[in-house]
Amino acid sequence: MDKPKVVLGVSGGIAAYKACELLRRLTESGHDVRVVPTDSALHFVGAATWSALSGNPVSTEVWDAVHEVPHVRIGQHADLVIVAPATADMLAKAAHGLADDLLTNTLLTARCPVVFAPAMHTEMWEHPATQENVATLRRRGALVIEPAVGRLTGVDTGKGRFPDPAEIFDYVRRVLARGARAGESDLAGRHVVVSAGGTREPLDPVRYLGNRSSGKQGYALARTAAARGARVTLLAANTGLPDPAGVDVVRVGTAVQLREAALKAAADADVVVMAAAVADFRPLTYATGKIKKKDGEEPAPITLVRNPDVLAELSADRPRPGQLVVGFAAETDDVLANGRAKLARKGCDLLVVNEVGERRTFGAEENEAVILATDGTETPVPHGPKDALADRIWDEVSHRLAPPTAQ
Ligand code: CTP
Repeated sequence: MDKPKVVLGVSGGIAAYKACELLRRLTESGHDVRVVPTDSALHFVGAATWSALSGNPVSTEVWDAVHEVPHVRIGQHADLVIVAPATADMLAKAAHGLADDLLTNTLLTARCPVVFAPAMHTEMWEHPATQENVATLRRRGALVIEPAVGRLTGVDTGKGRFPDPAEIFDYVRRVLARGARAGESDLAGRHVVVSAGGTREPLDPVRYLGNRSSGKQGYALARTAAARGARVTLLAANTGLPDPAGVDVVRVGTAVQLREAALKAAADADVVVMAAAVADFRPLTYATGKIKKKDGEEPAPITLVRNPDVLAELSADRPRPGQLVVGFAAETDDVLANGRAKLARKGCDLLVVNEVGERRTFGAEENEAVILATDGTETPVPHGPKDALADRIWDEVSHRLAPPTAQ
């Protein structure tokens, strides 16, 4: 089989050096990568580096090897184009269809999925001009990865950071695997909220009541939704996993914090998926000092109180008409019967039911489940990677979403 052909466009930002790692990951995993830098990108990383790492010739302009008609061929033959980093200037050129060098020509001739990974200072990213250009590109079907929040060049911190190259690679792999044509990302223009991990209910400054959820299934849902074009807010409860590229990660600790973050994020969401394991109870009291054992004394009992049921609340009070709410159920016995009863009790639209046990589901890379819907359909998803289950869940969500409102 031919190697998948990837065009890595590089525009002139300091994050160009991080694109070298992305390039390495792409070539080492069997992709044929053609790097197309802009002239200003070469101020940061020279052509020799791009050429050596990709094993292909590198040019910035349309006047080299003219007989090969590179300004048309490179884009036409690509399976995916990613511009990483994409500067504000590059986004503006792409949004307006300028074609004054090899990369911008390539963007006009590509008919495959086109991904932009912007990196710039927060002010430039937030500027209405940039935001309008991003909206234009997205409306046309391009996938624009939200920049990460963190340290920028110099002393600044904020949104605009180039996401971890390993995570961008993961994103690219998913888009390629879906084989979607440009403009066919079924969750494009949608805002999805996913909760992941497990809440912890503190007893004292060093102890908590928690559960064994790793967050992997929720992260798989966030990653797959991003690769399908969605804007994703991930509510991460005590997870130790790397932030997925293009996903807004909001960290929460307790069930009460998760509820607050979920209600806020759900306000403009098309879909909310509650994959987090939320503690049903929390200790009535929190000891501000560490609870000490005392010789000859029995331990004091822990009194628990109910936590809010976030899924039931989100299902009952939907801030947007047509918003879909998806729950998870981990069951040990009578899995389907309990799942059906839970779907009715919680009031959500879909419930993903899986069987749990000592060695099943928690922390594992694989999962199997049945997706129950209020319309009576029951979709079994065989044992397989958590990514595959995530994609099946989005399939079930996608065809139930109301048509997008015109922008
Ligand atoms: N959930 C929630 N808030 C809670 C408890 C659970 O939002 N306080 C959500 C979970 O995120 C999951 C779903 O509800 O999507 C199912 O959770 P589960 O704990 O199985 O449901 P319970 O109602 O607690 O049922 P039971 O304890 O009887 O199994």
